Amino acid sequence: MAALLLSSRLPTATATAPASTSAPRPSPRFISFPITTTKSCRRRGRIVASSSATSPPEPSPAAAQPFRSLPPSETTVLVTGATGYIGRYVVRELLRRGHRVLAVARPRSGIRGKNSQDDVIADLAPARVVFSDVTDPSALRADLSNHGPVHAAVCCLASRGGGVQDSWRVDYRATLHTLQAARSLGAAHFVLLSAVCVQKPLLEFQRAKLRFEDELAAEAARDAAFTYSVVRPTAFFKSLGGQVEVVKKGNPYVMFGDGRLCACKPISEEDLASFIADCIFDQDKANKVLPIGGPGKALTPLEQGEMLFRLLGREPKFIKVPIQIMDGVIWVLDGLAKVFPGLEDAAEFGKIGRYYASESMLVLDPETGEYSDELTPSYGTDTLEQFFDKVIREGMAGQELGEQTIF
Ligand SMILES: NC(=O)c1ccc[n+]([C@@H]2O[C@H](COP(=O)([O-])OP(=O)(O)OC[C@H]3O[C@@H](n4cnc5c(N)ncnc54)[C@H](OP(=O)(O)O)[C@@H]3O)[C@@H](O)[C@H]2O)c1
Repeated sequence: MAALLLSSRLPTATATAPASTSAPRPSPRFISFPITTTKSCRRRGRIVASSSATSPPEPSPAAAQPFRSLPPSETTVLVTGATGYIGRYVVRELLRRGHRVLAVARPRSGIRGKNSQDDVIADLAPARVVFSDVTDPSALRADLSNHGPVHAAVCCLASRGGGVQDSWRVDYRATLHTLQAARSLGAAHFVLLSAVCVQKPLLEFQRAKLRFEDELAAEAARDAAFTYSVVRPTAFFKSLGGQVEVVKKGNPYVMFGDGRLCACKPISEEDLASFIADCIFDQDKANKVLPIGGPGKALTPLEQGEMLFRLLGREPKFIKVPIQIMDGVIWVLDGLAKVFPGLEDAAEFGKIGRYYASESMLVLDPETGEYSDELTPSYGTDTLEQFFDKVIREGMAGQELGEQTIF
């Protein structure tokens, strides 16, 4: 009841623009983990991540959640975005740990709606799958109403394209509907899959995500019995594997500038799913913004290309594309979009491409304003080199990657 009352205070989203018994996965190596909050500053050598320009209310110190003393088999976790690249791994990981999982999916899901309801039920088994529409808050709450209570929720929703309207529809509004529905079912903890790049928000989907991060912090500030974890990963393996097959065929590796314009600490889908699952029970991760990368040092595109050629046993061969080419394209598209609003998304896609060609997927050091490898926490054991090696041997099709989705 308390949850119902509190959830009724959540804003209405109007912004525009059966237990698994498998053995536990070995604990990933936890290399470093700075404490974060939503204020932008750095104190006594600890990172405090930036959230957004507007300061949400300060959340209370994370309450000890009664559900955390229950065994996983007695806790139900709601997952939206369960049919996405990371969402599917999150569902599997939660099931493997013994949680009961309530997954939400569209009647046709996956890239271009290629998966039927039967496909999804089989893929996510033994999770309970509810087919609903996360973009319709009434339908979502009605469809989930007979499936409570839930103890925690994980939202892996993301606009599949990154267009302006779709970002607000999915990364903000549908995500807020997930929070409202989860609260109405009694969820006391909410894990959001966000992205490290929101700390420098120049793109519409980043602004939409940040707006929701603020809602989450505000909800925790309103109700001390509610907690959240905002997980902000760096690049996924799938986002870096696009050139493996091309290079394997003898083509050069294409990169912008000198290949050192940006860097990231790639994280595998399994390691990220494990980190997200940790957030359910780990009190230390409550009411925190958690940037996270994979193991090892940060890698530039040049280093990724060199790694690929080394694994293939070939001499490196690069094509270096001047970044200014993208600026020209964006300038033209931006101008055209002012006259032809239908081109708004094309201009946004250009900006997304430019962003990822030049901005690192690392934590920004608030003292220097520079991206920092050292300040970006590492988690897990899977390396990009292992992933490249696997793609070289098995091809991309074997990697369950589907189609590239925007960050
Ligand atoms: N790619 C990277 O390297 C990277 C790095 C850091 C952070 N991230 C962040 O990670 C997040 C998730 O990425 P991902 O690759 O797992 O995403 P994804 O594969 O594109 O999955 C998106 C999920 O959202 C659902 N969805 C999208 N639009 C919907 C709509 N209108 N109605 C209902 N459901 C909808 C999709 O459902 P359907 O299956 O029905 O389409 C799918 O379950 C994103 O927020 C991204 O910013 C990505």
